[in-house]
Amino acid sequence: MKKIILCAYIVLAAAIACTPKASPSTTDAVIPEASSVSSKQATIDAGHTIFTTKCTKCHGAKDKAVASKSYEELRPILAAMSKKAKLSREEVEQVSAYVYANAKK
Ligand code: HEC
Repeated sequence: MKKIILCAYIVLAAAIACTPKASPSTTDAVIPEASSVSSKQATIDAGHTIFTTKCTKCHGAKDKAVASKSYEELRPILAAMSKKAKLSREEVEQVSAYVYANAKK
């Protein structure tokens, strides 16, 4: 019985050790510049969904923080947050569109 547990432990340890680390190219969030943010309503809506689901894991929806800052001020925050939320490139684009649409003008 002990051997089985030991074997299971070794297999598990190997599985964890061999899991590839997320490559930075897919998780490195490049927040689009204001001039290239999508203004399509469908993209903004998709961004809103991400904002109210993936971005609320650690805190509430930061609507007030978004509304009180300009998009340029929010870009570095968004870069850090997108990493935290492990967003894909597409999700970053969508959330950026949502944030841009709701940021202080
Ligand atoms: C892994 C946890 C985590 C996730 C996921 C996360 N955040 Fe945050 N966020 C924080 C922490 C911690 C703070 C700082 C404390 C606070 O304001 O609650 C913060 C603060 C913020 C602020 C306020 C910054 C300021 O200076 O006013 C904004 C805006 C924000 N987050 C947006 C987002 C967005 C958008 C997403 C999704 C892309 C997101 N966050 C996902 C942890 C997270």
